[in-house]
Amino acid sequence: MNAIYEKLMQCYDSIRKQTDFQPKIALVLGSGLGDFAETIEVAQTVEYSSIEGFPTSTVQGHRGRYVFGYVDSVPIVAMQGRVHYYEGYSMADVVLPIRLMKRMGAEVLMVTNASGGICEQFQAGDLMLITDQIASFVPSPLLGPNIDALGTRFPDMTEAYDVELREVIAQTAERIGVPLRKGVYIQFTGPQFETPAEIRMARVLGADAVGMSTACEVIAARHMGMRVCGISCVSNLAAGMTGKPLLHEEVQQYADEAAPRFQKLVTESIIEINRIL
Ligand code: HPA
Repeated sequence: MNAIYEKLMQCYDSIRKQTDFQPKIALVLGSGLGDFAETIEVAQTVEYSSIEGFPTSTVQGHRGRYVFGYVDSVPIVAMQGRVHYYEGYSMADVVLPIRLMKRMGAEVLMVTNASGGICEQFQAGDLMLITDQIASFVPSPLLGPNIDALGTRFPDMTEAYDVELREVIAQTAERIGVPLRKGVYIQFTGPQFETPAEIRMARVLGADAVGMSTACEVIAARHMGMRVCGISCVSNLAAGMTGKPLLHEEVQQYADEAAPRFQKLVTESIIEINRIL
């Protein structure tokens, strides 16, 4: 059997010994949304470290556990802390947690993250509905022999971010009065922040926000046929746009300030998305 698939199945067996929870929607909590777990009616938590073979996250501000529970009676699983490529894991390991949530039953993936704003109109603290992505600067998580049990060799990425889900989130934001930008997310490996020249390049390429995660997760999710949507918290303007250096602490601070709006939008969007599933 394929070693990556074997590891996934090992993790699946391991987590199924701890919980039989069946999530409908999977959620990745990015920087600034870590506290979202406190708004979930928690049924069970599972530490990543307790899952045999599971990559464990190291970055500060990210806890490492799955939270199973309900958002207004919608069964969800949330990743409190994700795995980043810059931590040194293979891309297969980085996306294993996503694949595992699908294996457990989740048909929809909602990704969230903190990003640097590239679009000139953006401000620190803005929320952005992700409409498309550029993953060309990181290795694909699908490199190597295709795992036919997960999906097809050449998955279509035309509407990676589901049109109907995007519409639901945009309408929800309008209804609850949360301003929401729209844009394209570009993933770089990090962990260093970008140079101003890299940001100018990314802008020319059509990117509106930059980060060090997410796009690879979306590829793995689409490979498995999940419907995907994503919201980014623009925690800072990207390198070279303000004349000031970027500091992780400041990025975290703006993400924290946006957290209440971010949480409300995610909660309401989950409820509305569940209605159309
Ligand atoms: N660049 C990359 N990743 C980020 C940034 C940024 O400016 N802000 C938050 N995550």
